[in-house]
Amino acid sequence: MAEYNFDKVTPRENTDSVKYDLRKEYFGNAGVLPMWVADMDFETPAFIREAIQERAKHPIYGYSIISEDYFQAIIQWVKTRHQWDIKKEWISFTPGILPAVNFSVLSYTAQGEGIIVQPPVYFPFFEAIKSNRRRQLDNQLINQGGHYLIDFNDLEEKAKSARLLLMSHPHNPTGRCWTKEELTTIGEICLQNNVIIISDEIHNDLILPGFRHYPMAACSPEIADITITCIAPSKTFNVGGLATSSIIIPNEDLRKRFQKTLQQLHIFRGNFFGYVASTAGYQHGSSWLDALMKYVQGNFNYLADFLQKELPNVKLTHPEATYLAWLDFRETGLSDKQIKDKLIFEAQLGFSHGPVFGLGGQGFQRMNLAAPLSIVEEACLRLKKTFVN
Ligand SMILES: Cc1ncc(COP(=O)(O)O)c(C=O)c1O
Repeated sequence: MAEYNFDKVTPRENTDSVKYDLRKEYFGNAGVLPMWVADMDFETPAFIREAIQERAKHPIYGYSIISEDYFQAIIQWVKTRHQWDIKKEWISFTPGILPAVNFSVLSYTAQGEGIIVQPPVYFPFFEAIKSNRRRQLDNQLINQGGHYLIDFNDLEEKAKSARLLLMSHPHNPTGRCWTKEELTTIGEICLQNNVIIISDEIHNDLILPGFRHYPMAACSPEIADITITCIAPSKTFNVGGLATSSIIIPNEDLRKRFQKTLQQLHIFRGNFFGYVASTAGYQHGSSWLDALMKYVQGNFNYLADFLQKELPNVKLTHPEATYLAWLDFRETGLSDKQIKDKLIFEAQLGFSHGPVFGLGGQGFQRMNLAAPLSIVEEACLRLKKTFVN
């Protein structure tokens, strides 16, 4: 762990950062401590910065192809970290996962058709459905004392009138790392009902110690045949600004339909800094990532202890993956607006507002813990000052 310094505070103001430089626009208060957008306040690891600097030295930045190294790095990473064997021809490039979600909606559904989501969930999924004029079917998660479960009976019901299931796996914002058993049950329900699964696995590498990510498509060959898996180095190595992701589609027909959409929109290339960053991250990132997740676990532990001792009416959902803390404020007895105003204007904290995550988000706030411990400590003190009477 000593090799990597996650305690370092690196100022990000005035770097055109969404998290820092859009605070006034988003919160109406430019002074909040920003713990919202899912990127990290840790520096992108040196092996990625050095690879980019090396490429940047060449004085010509013309059109470029995606190298063989890029594909091999992804194949090796998925095999060693997630024990899933994938083939090069299964991989398509997209400039981000939200674009891929939207391309999937366009490729596999028609207007008016049903798409299942599992709220409270990453809210841009709703927009991907609404803006493409598809129908949102909510398979709301069950919150069992701070542990989220899938309502399989409801999923079976919704699957009868759906074309797609849009999954967040691991789940943002609840931090669930779905088990193989849960995934297999979901997969079987989808198989029985001809529902295609879009498994957004952007958080797949951010697994807390003691848990394991199981790719949806690794559950069985039949499930792989109906699954579109979306992965990226964006969250893992903090390179979201490079808009680079990989979409893995084993089934040839589904792959052709997806690629046809990419061709129609002329999207088959990104920027070469993205390819270089991906390749370097997947080639060299293992020990850095392990150290990162230990540090994030430390931040979760700190927050959990603090809340238990100082602020027991705010509850932390038990985290299994991601660096996102899903906080339950319902016992404070405050309305969502009161919680939001207190956070932004009294505590000066910029969290993500629970209700935007859809059903089950009311009374919750999402706090991003991918920051040096000193920042998490400061946020905790502010929470105490504001919410303890
Ligand atoms: C579940 C999930 N999917 C997709 C994204 C965004 O991905 P991209 O920036 O590659 O479009 C995020 C970012 O927070 C996310 O949490």
